[in-house]
Amino acid sequence: MPADAKTRTLCEQILRLKERTDTVILAHNYQVPEVQDVADYVGDSLGLARQASQTPHSQILFCGVHFMAETAAIISPKKRVLIPDPDAGCSLSDSITVDELRAWKARHPKAISVGYVNTTAAIKAELDYCCTSSNAVGVVNAIPRSREVLFLPDMFLGAYVAKETGRDNIRIWAGECHVHAGITPEDVSKKLDSVSNPEFLIHPECSCTTPILYDANSGKYGSRQVSILSTEGMMRRAAESDAKNFVVATETGMLHRLAKQNPGKNFVAAADHAECQYMKMITLQGVYDSLAESKYVVRVPPRTAVKARRAIQRMLEIS
Ligand code: 13P
Ligand code: SF4
Repeated sequence: MPADAKTRTLCEQILRLKERTDTVILAHNYQVPEVQDVADYVGDSLGLARQASQTPHSQILFCGVHFMAETAAIISPKKRVLIPDPDAGCSLSDSITVDELRAWKARHPKAISVGYVNTTAAIKAELDYCCTSSNAVGVVNAIPRSREVLFLPDMFLGAYVAKETGRDNIRIWAGECHVHAGITPEDVSKKLDSVSNPEFLIHPECSCTTPILYDANSGKYGSRQVSILSTEGMMRRAAESDAKNFVVATETGMLHRLAKQNPGKNFVAAADHAECQYMKMITLQGVYDSLAESKYVVRVPPRTAVKARRAIQRMLEIS
């Protein structure tokens, strides 16, 4: 849809300010379309972390939720990282506190702790390894099989990792993302039946991931292609697949880039209600204000950052 005059003017102002302030704009795949379209790079948590670690620009404007901007600040300590709205949180990262993690580790002193990137900097500082949805299986596979693993905080991603790695020594924290946990097998069935011969793309944070894995193995989906992927994995799969129709089980912001980069293919949300209100707190006006007023600077206490960086670096070295 062509942008209206106000949006076009705002975009031009943002691009000018971006040049003047030596800023790179990074945006997550769930951002609203107009924010994605003004970004220099749009991607998943892993891709955004990599971009933040490699950018030559002195300032990063992070369009995503707070833990993602914190991750950028941790791995690029010499850069200034801005987030348009510091209240853009994450229900999944809120599902474990530092005290809870310390108590869990104390009960399993020999275990290796692996935490999803959807955690606060303070949690990351307590971890042995960080991981994202695109490398969680690889990170756990890199840990000697004899070592017990504490996986946190997403129970559905944890169950998926346990199944894929074939390990029975993974303890999983019972956290969840309210958006992905809210996508039900009934939502999925309805949408799969609504289009002809669809391929099914599903994010491992979905609560339906585990039953769907079993259903797929038992042949319930017949010849339908079912893939469990990170948001960037979905982009790759959609581009290489011959399918014309796709049902996509993740936050609905994903559909914008999928449709934009794959003209002629049809993408349908598995659940229209799967919208993350935190991701949607970042607006084009907010991006402009952030650049114009140099707000809001993301600060991670240096001692926390040093410890958290270890877990993130270990992840980046593995994947
Ligand atoms: P990805 O790393 O797959 O982009 O997922 C991040 C996220 O917050 C999912 O809800
Ligand atoms: Fe967090 Fe879920 Fe929103 Fe992703 S979709 S940022 S996991 S609340």
